[in-house]
Amino acid sequence: MAKTKSFTCSACGASFSKWSGRCEACGDWNTIAEEKPLSAGPASKSLGAKRGTAITLTDLSTEETPPPRTLSGVAELDRVLGGGLVPASAILVGGDPGIGKSTLLLQAAARFARNGLKTIYVSGEEASAQVRMRAQRLGLADAPVKLAAETNLRDILTTLETERPQLAIIDSIQTMWADSVDSAPGSVSQVRAAAHELTTFAKRRGLSVVLVGHVTKEGQIAGPRVVEHMVDTVLYFEGERGHQFRILRAVKNRFGPADEIGVFEMTGRGLAEVTNPSALFLSERGKPTPGSAVFAGIEGTRPVLVELQALVAPSPHSQPRRTVVGWDGGRLAMILAVLEARCGIPFAGLDVYLNVAGGMKISEPAADLAVAAALLSAREDAALPADTVVFGEISLSGALRPAPQTENRLKEAQKLGFTAAIAPAGGKSGTVAGLAVTRATDLTGFVGEVFGAG
Ligand code: TYD
Ligand code: MG
Repeated sequence: MAKTKSFTCSACGASFSKWSGRCEACGDWNTIAEEKPLSAGPASKSLGAKRGTAITLTDLSTEETPPPRTLSGVAELDRVLGGGLVPASAILVGGDPGIGKSTLLLQAAARFARNGLKTIYVSGEEASAQVRMRAQRLGLADAPVKLAAETNLRDILTTLETERPQLAIIDSIQTMWADSVDSAPGSVSQVRAAAHELTTFAKRRGLSVVLVGHVTKEGQIAGPRVVEHMVDTVLYFEGERGHQFRILRAVKNRFGPADEIGVFEMTGRGLAEVTNPSALFLSERGKPTPGSAVFAGIEGTRPVLVELQALVAPSPHSQPRRTVVGWDGGRLAMILAVLEARCGIPFAGLDVYLNVAGGMKISEPAADLAVAAALLSAREDAALPADTVVFGEISLSGALRPAPQTENRLKEAQKLGFTAAIAPAGGKSGTVAGLAVTRATDLTGFVGEVFGAG
């Protein structure tokens, strides 16, 4: 009987029975490759008659003390982890190559080791000498971190078993090679097998493992998205190569809030934590210019002010351009449609560009009103009043919905020297001394308030 072939997308892990150029599940191109089976596979379809052992069941009410956590002392990192490192947990740190994952984790390893955790750093990408050189440059050479340059998973697990560390960092999961799997390192089956072995080992032995995963657009290396389901915590390290800001974002966390961010700055001596990100994101803002609006946002548990920049220009194309950096393109299309349908302000025949300053990515719906403000300001070529922050969600009817944590947003704005805010009416309306809050009920009212009759 001919064996049926199986094809897997290296980005999202979806399987198909035949090859195609584009993954139907995630839409990425050139990510589908033939998958070698993990093992010989089950001989028969059912489990058969052989009995297993009965599992001991417990009640939900059984007393469980919260896991003891270890703090690194880097507040930005500890907060993203949900209040420190949890023992017997698996953490995935994903990010583009060269963004600073190895730097971050070497610094974190040194901090945890100095705080008393037995820490091992396994590099599958760099030689030990390279890692040592980086440690010297970062001033961490004296930290009690044990180092290895190795890719053989069996040897690594054996070492972890004898050394019994409390924290192991595997940089990166794509370079790990399990001899039980018959395919090249970096393939989906290797990455999946290595991640599975390491996470189950962590649970069994009570150590924390941190897996580093590269994400590439081309999907040549298996994306760590297949690993996301196996681990407890998924952190993404984001930023733009040209900018010095780096954002560590929790997208999944079984031990704390998701959506929490930590902000860092890449310096000549490694990553420095940024305790006041609003000041940093607004530091490059000059005089008020048309197309610029300051959004008072909330990231996780913390208010963050960011500048939104819009440019609107007559389009030479029959299909005008809509380009967005740091925000959702679909959401932009929606706001343009609402502006046209509810306020009679058309953007047809105009190219629209929207950028979130500082390499920040925003996903909050409360940014809607700030986006609309930036777009209108660019279109009318009129600067918004200086020292004003904007926030609020826009519904398809053109009504404005109050945003959560209004008071925190206003407080942050006031702290950074803003004197006015435009926010939706209704909801819990906080007041902050020294800040004049204009409340609008719908988009038309907002346009009238800010830009006169239009
Ligand atoms: P790295 O941690 O190697 O990235 P990754 O592991 O995500 O691939 O960091 C690479 C970049 O960081 C590199 O371009 C140089 C820069 N860098 C600094 O600017 N300052 C530093 O102190 C260090 C160690 C790196
Ligand atoms: Mg690296």
